Amino acid sequence: MKREIIHVSTGRPYDIIVENGLLRETGALAAKVTKARNAAVITDTNVAPLFLEAVKNSLEEAGFSVKTYIFPAGETSKNHKTLIGIYEFLAQNGFNRSDVIIALGGGVVGDVAGFAAATFMRGMDFIQVPTTLLAQIDSSIGGKTAVDLCEGKNLVGAFWQPRLVICDPDTLKTLDKRIFADGMAEAIKHTLIKDRTLFERLCDGMQVDAEFICRNIDIKRRVVERDERESGERMLLNFGHTLGHAIEKVYNYEKYTHGEAVAIGMVTITQFAERRGLTKPGTASKIARVIEKNGLPVSCDAPLSEILKAAKNDKKRSAGGITLVLLHDIGEGYLYRVSDSEFNRFFSEVE
Ligand SMILES: NC(=O)c1ccc[n+]([C@@H]2O[C@H](COP(=O)([O-])OP(=O)(O)OC[C@H]3O[C@@H](n4cnc5c(N)ncnc54)[C@H](O)[C@@H]3O)[C@@H](O)[C@H]2O)c1
Ligand SMILES: [Zn+2]
Repeated sequence: MKREIIHVSTGRPYDIIVENGLLRETGALAAKVTKARNAAVITDTNVAPLFLEAVKNSLEEAGFSVKTYIFPAGETSKNHKTLIGIYEFLAQNGFNRSDVIIALGGGVVGDVAGFAAATFMRGMDFIQVPTTLLAQIDSSIGGKTAVDLCEGKNLVGAFWQPRLVICDPDTLKTLDKRIFADGMAEAIKHTLIKDRTLFERLCDGMQVDAEFICRNIDIKRRVVERDERESGERMLLNFGHTLGHAIEKVYNYEKYTHGEAVAIGMVTITQFAERRGLTKPGTASKIARVIEKNGLPVSCDAPLSEILKAAKNDKKRSAGGITLVLLHDIGEGYLYRVSDSEFNRFFSEVE
């Protein structure tokens, strides 16, 4: 597939460019969107040996002076300690607000480097080079940046749109199977809420290639453009997440990845919605088939009552009631608001 450019019309618009091999053009592409001459490339210990040299060389060829910061891979690095490490690195190397931060890696790198870009000297240019499926189709789009606290994930963050997203599907070749599947859960979610045709192509064995990634990016783009600050439509992206987050918590974030828990959440909520006549019959089993085909689980053995308890605790702060995301049918997500007591009834057996 030739180069695809997806334009995102948020408050500060930017392009997402998708093409195999694009990583090697990082420098030339960056030079078009920023006046900066100094680039700080931030990445993690898994991604650095794979792609850092190519990105650094490309930036230097385009005239950037490059410094790199590498932190230990994994969600446990998405915290204030890493953030302070990045601030100190920037300060010690004389970076200022007219320079650019380049986030090379998965969602963790994108979120923490993005938050550093949003806050260091009140905001620097920021370019995302996502290298996981999840980062390419989900976390690099929409401008949310954050770090975790011990008290919870993503509790400190900012909306900060990148100047550019450089998406090279070739980088996905080195991904661990389970991490790839994790991203697939969000990709399947996108098709379920918005794109029936893409879902059907997945059922027919469509591979994850540049076209699939573009279609997926476009679904998230449309949703965030309509709702940049997450008040309404953007909540559709939470399909499977109310139960998914609860499942992650019940298993202490150990047994299931985020995507696996969301996969279980999407199937489970759709099963109950079907029983209540809120979703077209047969939808849950269609979802389950695609989920299983992609190496993701469709159920777990924790008692439902425990999952619901965790889900309700999670939602305590949203003042009375919970917004569920349901499907009328494949490709047609909608919001369904319930009170606390209706929430329990929703998941009780239908008489
Ligand atoms: N900002 C948003 O809107 C948004 C949306 C969804 C998720 N997120 C965040 O994204 C994070 C999860 O992202 P993730 O799944 O990409 O996790 P991640 O960044 O931890 O990447 C997963 C693992 O893959 C490795 N890796 C990355 N690219 C690789 C490659 N090409 N080849 C081999 N290994 C590679 C990483 O080093 C890491 O070990 C979470 O912190 C989540 O909160 C943010
Ligand atoms: Zn998710």
